Amino acid sequence: MSSTNSQWGGRFTQATDEFVQEFTASVNFDQRLYRQDIQGSKAHAQMLGEEGIISSEEAKLIISGLDQVLADIETNQFSWSVALEDVHMNVESALVAKIGAVGKKLHTGRSRNDQVATDIRLYVRDEIDALSRKITELQQGMVSLASQHSNTIMPGFTHLQTAQPITFGHHLLAWNEMMERDHERLQDCRKRVNIMPLGSAALAGTTFAINRQRTAELLGFASPSLNSLDSVSDRDFAIELSACASLIMMHLSRMSEELILWTSSQFDFIDLPDRFCTGSSIMPQKKNPDVPELVRGKSGRVYGHLFSLLTLMKSQPLAYNKDNQEDKEPLFDLIDTLHGCLTAFASMIPAIEPKIDNMRAAAFKGYSTATDLADYLVRLGLPFRDAHEVVGKSVAYGIEQQKDLSELSLAELQQFYPEIGAEVFDVLTLEGSVKARDHLGGTAPSQVAKACIAAQQRLSTRGQ
Ligand code: ARG
Repeated sequence: MSSTNSQWGGRFTQATDEFVQEFTASVNFDQRLYRQDIQGSKAHAQMLGEEGIISSEEAKLIISGLDQVLADIETNQFSWSVALEDVHMNVESALVAKIGAVGKKLHTGRSRNDQVATDIRLYVRDEIDALSRKITELQQGMVSLASQHSNTIMPGFTHLQTAQPITFGHHLLAWNEMMERDHERLQDCRKRVNIMPLGSAALAGTTFAINRQRTAELLGFASPSLNSLDSVSDRDFAIELSACASLIMMHLSRMSEELILWTSSQFDFIDLPDRFCTGSSIMPQKKNPDVPELVRGKSGRVYGHLFSLLTLMKSQPLAYNKDNQEDKEPLFDLIDTLHGCLTAFASMIPAIEPKIDNMRAAAFKGYSTATDLADYLVRLGLPFRDAHEVVGKSVAYGIEQQKDLSELSLAELQQFYPEIGAEVFDVLTLEGSVKARDHLGGTAPSQVAKACIAAQQRLSTRGQ
């Protein structure tokens, strides 16, 4: 008989096929969970000691042994072994090597099934906190740029055609609202992540008198989970994080698209500092917005991970199945991708240099105050539909004369509706148009300035 796996080889008479060993191992990617794995094991050992399931001396030895293993890993003095399959068995075997046979008691009353479920939840919880902090940083940058541009006029678009003038600050605050919801979603997801599966053991619980409340408290979980079968098989929380991540990427991709358009010579609304761009090896004039393009591109990969995870879980019977090992690579990659994209955005957004004159000129070009003229006519007593008609004719005339509505003379405007007075020019200017949208959520500079203060307050009272 050749040697079998030392961790579970008791009932085996044949060693694992070398290829199968490689194929089933997860250590190459799940070693990333070592910190959470050790954290979970320390809490488990402490609880076992407190409950008298192992002696308190044994618990102490195990805990200090785990600390030594942690130190070895963090100082690169640890060698990971594929033969030991995964992070859990690598750590446990290193513990036994350090403290001897007592290390073998650590696995009392638990299984790798509840262990891995706990590790991932601890990991995801840490990552949600880090991602949330990044989002806050990004929002702070957006809002502070918005507050400098509450008066900066640009065209607002529908169908990518000039629609009405807005302020650049208002546009940035729209982005901020998207990120606000994203942050809220992450916090909501965190509530369901922060439940402790440990103690569910393989699937049915354990025969030892464990104290799950205590372990949950030691690990900072809100509470222990309520059903052992569900606990070892549930990966909803990972899917939920992927869904949150997909929405964030969708938002970053939309913003990227706008940045890409705005830096083009056709729009020429903003400059992105050179550090976010690259050149072309053949066209010397080029400065390409690589960072937003790459973020836009990476959204596809995150959506893909959401689908991998949904598909991974569909049709799995209760409880744990080895399929679940496939949850980690998509999860890790989407978290890394999101971190990278948020980091890029957090430093890029405050560095946007708006070209104020170009933005204003573009708003001026597209008859963007036509609705203001219609609203003015309504105030003179004309029903909106009729006003729409009058303005349509005025715009057609303006196009023919190559003049903006505000450049037509009073007499020219009166051809279309005789009661128009000189005060019409107050509403036909870009400044008059934005200023008039003076209500909660509107683009008036005074509203944008107020909204910036409110947003800053919201951000400063945020937990993270
Ligand atoms: N590496 C495994 C995973 O990621 C750990 C749990 C293994 N459990 C088992 N019964 N084989 O899911």
